[in-house]
Amino acid sequence: MKTIEKSADFQSHIWDATSNDPLKIEELLREELTESQGIHEEICHHLLRAGGKRVRPLLVYHCGLLFGPETEDLKRTAVAAELIHMASLVHDDIIDGSDFRHNQPTAHLIWGNQRGVLAGDYLFAKAFGILAANKSTQPLRLMVGAIQNMCRGEINQDREQFSSMIGIEAYYDRIANKTAALIEASCMAGAVVAGANPLQIEAIGRFGLNLGLAFQIIDDILDLCGDEQKMGKPKYTDLIKGNLTLPVILLREQPQYKEWLREVFQEKTITNSILVEIETAAKDGGITERAFAIGVSHLDQARTVLQNFCDNQARKFLEGLTYMLQARAN
Ligand code: IPE
Ligand code: IPE
Ligand code: MG
Ligand code: MG
Repeated sequence: MKTIEKSADFQSHIWDATSNDPLKIEELLREELTESQGIHEEICHHLLRAGGKRVRPLLVYHCGLLFGPETEDLKRTAVAAELIHMASLVHDDIIDGSDFRHNQPTAHLIWGNQRGVLAGDYLFAKAFGILAANKSTQPLRLMVGAIQNMCRGEINQDREQFSSMIGIEAYYDRIANKTAALIEASCMAGAVVAGANPLQIEAIGRFGLNLGLAFQIIDDILDLCGDEQKMGKPKYTDLIKGNLTLPVILLREQPQYKEWLREVFQEKTITNSILVEIETAAKDGGITERAFAIGVSHLDQARTVLQNFCDNQARKFLEGLTYMLQARAN
């Protein structure tokens, strides 16, 4: 397997890693979803073709290989993690009203909300079926716990919409639940399947949690300051939905922006020119860099955890992944 170097192009290198990866995740996903029928088959086919970085299954797999050999249970758990992620994105795009992802129309845009919700449910059920076939029930319990946290995170986000007073603590609580929980569970599930001991499982969970926090922080920076074409999904979704994210929270700490942002959030409809003004203020005031530095501090913590494990190919892959994620927002 190829070692990933620090890279400026997260997406293409993840693909490179995937195509050279013995996990062969695309094939496994296709196998798993081909038996779907009717509308589900169409939707699954569309989602598979649209693609994704497959970060979670790669994490399951390589966190497993840190501690033990490749097994069918490890590969199955990796597939289940991606199906759960795919399901959550189909639902998330309905919640956020996002019309495209991976530069393709979202499922609900083509098939409507009702079928979108059901397709998401179908993918969740598929994942549970796969996890139920594992020798150990612990990966299933980890994933179920992560889904519960994900729902909690999304519900809190909904409750906090257009509340300009949300602070760093509430933000962390939200991103830990909605995003980091599944990434943490993916890492832990891989380690569990591979027979890691409780201390190792706890440590790999810390790796996953920090990686997951950085993942959402960088996603939130890109939502405000990124390139729509490169992201493959709409920009400014967080502000339009009234979700206060780290860069905007940091901007609000600047006295000259506090009152302005409060008024903007009170209005609840943020015009295009204001979106651009907020982006410019964040970029010019060094806020984007500060938010990014916070994300990097979590990647540093994740890398520190990895130092505890034996320096094999799997560890190199995981380290490479942290650098690719860091390069994504540079
Ligand atoms: C998107 O996750 C949702 C977030 C947690 C920010 P990914 O960026 O891993 O999604 P894909 O599957 O690779 O597009
Ligand atoms: C992550 O949040 C959503 C999930 C964890 C399902 P976002 O809403 O920011 O994700 P994107 O930006 O739509 O991918
Ligand atoms: Mg979204
Ligand atoms: Mg986002």
